[in-house]
Amino acid sequence: MVQATPFLLVLFLVLGAHSLSAKKVLSSAEFPALQCSLTGRWVNDLGSNMTIKNLFANDFTGTYYTAVSATGKIEPSPLLGSQHPPNERNQPTFGFTVHWTFANSITVFTGQCFVEDNGREVLKTMWLLRSHVDKSGDDWKATTVGTNVFTRL
Ligand code: BTN
Repeated sequence: MVQATPFLLVLFLVLGAHSLSAKKVLSSAEFPALQCSLTGRWVNDLGSNMTIKNLFANDFTGTYYTAVSATGKIEPSPLLGSQHPPNERNQPTFGFTVHWTFANSITVFTGQCFVEDNGREVLKTMWLLRSHVDKSGDDWKATTVGTNVFTRL
């Protein structure tokens, strides 16, 4: 019994140290690297999809295929955007413009790329859609606003 005491003491010390280190809170420098890249194919909650390609540095181009339209007609339309360079959390903010080829309208999107708890990437955006009106008196009704959430296709 006397010989068992030092052994038990060492055992308790080892187990205690292990449980302490297991509960240690990660500092921001120790977070596992997150990856949120804008490039690739995305679909949003309306069923619209877009392809974003790398262009140069933090600027990008792509093609947007909307699922809905105020005009009835729909064609693939070019997009042009810019993102912040990846930081230590790599969840960049971005903005892009879609020049609709089939309507006299323009949409600007702004948002951020997030990695969700399940590891999936998601783009949370807000947009402004500017439609053409014939006279300045109609300016009040020319801009609509909304949100779209994009997930990877
Ligand atoms: C238009 O109707 O004038 C052009 C098409 C606009 C489509 C809008 S842009 C915001 C929203 N999100 C989409 O994916 N499509 C609609």
